[in-house]
Amino acid sequence: MSRTIAVIRGDGIGPEITDATLRVLDALALGLRYDFVEAGLAAQEKIGELLPQATLDAIAHHRVALKGPLTTPVAGGFSSLNVELRKRFDLYANVRPAHSFPNTKSRFPDGVDLITVRENTEGAYIGEGQQLSEDGETATLTQKVTRRGSERIVRYAFDLARNVGRKKVTVVHKANILKSTSGLFLKVAREVAAKYPDIACNEMIVDNCCMQLVMRPEQFDVIVTTNLFGDIISDLCAGLVGGLGLAPGANIGTEAAIFEAVHGSAPDIAGKGIANPCALVLGAALMLDHIGCGSEAMRVRAAVRDALEKRDRTTPDLGGSGTTTAFADALVERVRA
Ligand code: NAI
Ligand code: MG
Repeated sequence: MSRTIAVIRGDGIGPEITDATLRVLDALALGLRYDFVEAGLAAQEKIGELLPQATLDAIAHHRVALKGPLTTPVAGGFSSLNVELRKRFDLYANVRPAHSFPNTKSRFPDGVDLITVRENTEGAYIGEGQQLSEDGETATLTQKVTRRGSERIVRYAFDLARNVGRKKVTVVHKANILKSTSGLFLKVAREVAAKYPDIACNEMIVDNCCMQLVMRPEQFDVIVTTNLFGDIISDLCAGLVGGLGLAPGANIGTEAAIFEAVHGSAPDIAGKGIANPCALVLGAALMLDHIGCGSEAMRVRAAVRDALEKRDRTTPDLGGSGTTTAFADALVERVRA
């Protein structure tokens, strides 16, 4: 197979976990090739631009990208490049599985196996119309939800449920308060759900959903929700399965797909060589599924599971004392075996 993947190593811990992930991919001997392109702070330093045209061209050309986290400054500064990439390529479905793994700090070592499907292109999260009044006293933001955006994401969630043998989709909303935006999302979700009689569907208001996830996560199977709620819920779900170091994410559109970790650039541990590479490794497994290498994806997941089970060279976030490189070695040995 001669497939080329666009690779953005990213900021903070990005380069460390990306290198580890590529070593795991190489151990599969699939003949994957990588087109390394820059985005974020690294791109600004080298090329003088945060999101160079060459990077966009590479993603458009290869249609599949693996991306390390990109830093977004808090309160001011440049807008999120992650949001920009999702917008540019219309990556409307953000798919974030949360599966329990052994020997993690999870309070539910066996009980969590759910997928969050988050709308990725509209809603409050994209920051449309952000404004601070001249006197600095009032801030505003436009929140737009469309029928088209809602319909395609809910369809995606139900199709995914059908394709991977899931039984239930929970529509998460705040339509009691946000009657226009969440209201439209819920109305469209009900219409779409009616077309999938084989998949159960229930509805839950987002605040209750957060409580239910913490108390009884086993009741969830697939969650579908709008952009900002999905952002928050998916980090919550990462916490249910032992932390951000284990949570992968896929950004899927019709023309391109970008695979990443749910977590960010982790500036607090960047450069220390102790970042857990598993979230991006599991993101690469989602990428393998996407390009038709399902059995290799399973080998990667099995390697992660086995290394965790044996606590083999695991990183400090998992209670171990391994480095990123040593943990990657443990995964590479298993993938090769
Ligand atoms: P973060 O996810 O980077 O870190 C949160 C906490 O989890 C930190 O204590 C960090 O050390 C830990 N952590 C994260 N990944 C880890 C890993 N692989 N191994 C071990 N520990 C890990 O979130 P934070 O600090 O809120 O954001 C930092 C930056 O990342 C911000 O600029 C933010 O905008 C950006 N970000 C980028 C994302 C992306 O590129 N998709 C997603 C989320 C945040
Ligand atoms: Mg997030």
